[in-house]
Amino acid sequence: MAEVFDLVIFGGGGDLSRRKLLPALYSGFVAGRVAKGSRIFLTSRKGLEGSSEGWLKEVFTETPPACPVEKQDLKDFSEMVSVIELGLVEGGADWEAFRDALKTDDQDRPLVHFLAIPPSLFTSTCELLGEYGLNSGRARVVLEKPLGNDLESAQAINADVGRYFEEKQTFRIDHYLGKEAVQNLLALRFSNILFEELWSGRTIDHIQITIAENQGVQGRKGFYEGTGAMRDMVQNHLLQLLCLVAMEPPARLEADSIREEKLKVLKSLKPLEGADIDRNVVRAQYQAGAMFGEAVPSYVDDVELDTPSNTETFVALKAHIENWRWAGVPFYLRTGKRLPDRFAEIVIQFKNVPHSPHPDWGRGLNPNRFIIRLQPEDHLALRMMVKNHASKSETLKEVEMNLDVAGDDSTRLGPYLRLILDAVRGDQSLFVHRKEVEYAWRWVDRIIDHWNASGEPPESYQAGTWGPYEAHDLMTRDRREWFHETSGKRAGR
Ligand code: BG6
Repeated sequence: MAEVFDLVIFGGGGDLSRRKLLPALYSGFVAGRVAKGSRIFLTSRKGLEGSSEGWLKEVFTETPPACPVEKQDLKDFSEMVSVIELGLVEGGADWEAFRDALKTDDQDRPLVHFLAIPPSLFTSTCELLGEYGLNSGRARVVLEKPLGNDLESAQAINADVGRYFEEKQTFRIDHYLGKEAVQNLLALRFSNILFEELWSGRTIDHIQITIAENQGVQGRKGFYEGTGAMRDMVQNHLLQLLCLVAMEPPARLEADSIREEKLKVLKSLKPLEGADIDRNVVRAQYQAGAMFGEAVPSYVDDVELDTPSNTETFVALKAHIENWRWAGVPFYLRTGKRLPDRFAEIVIQFKNVPHSPHPDWGRGLNPNRFIIRLQPEDHLALRMMVKNHASKSETLKEVEMNLDVAGDDSTRLGPYLRLILDAVRGDQSLFVHRKEVEYAWRWVDRIIDHWNASGEPPESYQAGTWGPYEAHDLMTRDRREWFHETSGKRAGR
């Protein structure tokens, strides 16, 4: 049975709350995953216009939830939602009223504070939560990324939050960890001997992890300029995916063991330095181009700048993990805005067979690939070679064994709802430990510092293409190529 809880969304009227959290909570409510009797408080500096029902209706018109918005459901849901006007810098009458609103006789009822606000407000908000006694045992704090913008600021945030909330009350969210397919990756790796036996440099040639987006950064000017793809995507989502692919089997599928194993991966990432960075890390920024037949502006125009900017909207890099399992296996990571397609995919490319026993088989003999598609749909596919019956000669063709894991859509929670409900239950397995955040920054900071010191601008790519030439060169000079599929067809540059 779903558990009754209190949830406070700090930044309740903001982008994350409107686009992700509220639609997810509404569909969770309709599906019976968010228990009736739970309370959702949206804090906002200026209050929100109109009744919560009217306001929510508007929010769901902008971003429709996964299920239809029916009148009665909307009414019932909006009765759970209250809007609270609250400053996050100093206490006062508004904080007293807020504390009173949160009062309950049930001291076991979970209270989740979701900080969907800029990290510069994390410290003062946690301090106020402490001052008003809202950090008791029933309270948890969820920290949305970005957690700082380098190691030093992340350490400061972790230390500040740590003064008011214990580590077991602190939930650092990376919504990629809440994606169904990501969890399936754990199930697949650690409950099938087949994969585990093949999962190492003995049989794997290399691994590619791509998060491609076709959106630009319009409307996120304040956040994106000066942040860039390395901080926005690589430091968190891409490195977390790399950890899940590369980690050793945890002793148990529970928070401490999983996070310990992920941390070992981050500690084993070979640091990139100096010329190694120039050679193995590509950064670029999109220029004006065309998407789906329509002209789109450049990054600089999207963020309305009058001067050029060095902020990267694309990163491709080659990383190595220095341990027994992965020695010599490159991990190619890639992410970018304004690419031709939106998808997230992990490709495990196996080595080729050491010898082809038939002379005609040598040609077109592709290595096996295991493809884990995280979005837009969950999909697992194994690409293998079989005899080509259509051909008169003894040729081979590549076929794809599709593993349909999506299941019944109505049972799926979506990443944010899953993670909020995990926080309600106090389960930290899919949240990031402070040390993981810090080790990830340590690795990424070296690269960013090198870029800053060089003063060189990023490369350019036209919006609607697969990034700059250098990203392809990163692969082709290793005699490899980026792989991805659209509707079963191989898509190139
Ligand atoms: C966020 C980034 O963390 O993830 C965004 O800040 C990015 O820039 C988004 O667009 C991608 O998430 P998803 O789930 O849509 O792939």
